[in-house]
Amino acid sequence: MGFRDLLKRSVKKALGREGKANGGSSSSGGRASLPPGAVAWDKDITPTRHGQVVADGVGVAIFRIDGGLLAIDNACTHEDGPLAEGECKDGVVTCPYHDWRFDVKTGQCLSHANRQVGCWDVEVREGAVYVTGQRTKASPERGGAHDDGMAVLTRNLDEEGT
Ligand code: FES
Repeated sequence: MGFRDLLKRSVKKALGREGKANGGSSSSGGRASLPPGAVAWDKDITPTRHGQVVADGVGVAIFRIDGGLLAIDNACTHEDGPLAEGECKDGVVTCPYHDWRFDVKTGQCLSHANRQVGCWDVEVREGAVYVTGQRTKASPERGGAHDDGMAVLTRNLDEEGT
């Protein structure tokens, strides 16, 4: 056995895959693949660890609130900050970029009127999470005042054809 074989065997052993095919589940720490159409495992989304997934080509943030799952657009309507990376408390997520706040249940922006994010329907089947459709649409506006007083260029995504 050469050095490369020894190295490969050590890596496989460390990954718990010795004697098993790549992918799929194993009894030694491997994970099952998600079923077709699923975006996450239910158990992986916790009150402090949000889901950041893609559904219908759109970024969606999934939150566990009061034991259930709720989903909104991941892109903040200020400057597209990733809401799944924000802190969520009492059903309100705070954007990690400039602190705009959104009600996860309704999508309403609590920092600036008429700047709601879209809401999505989610289902859990056999432990897997599915995003099943968009319930409400986001404001197409972007930009506006930062809460620190700095103004940024406002634009309308609909007029830009995006
Ligand atoms: S990008 Fe979300 S508050 Fe600025």
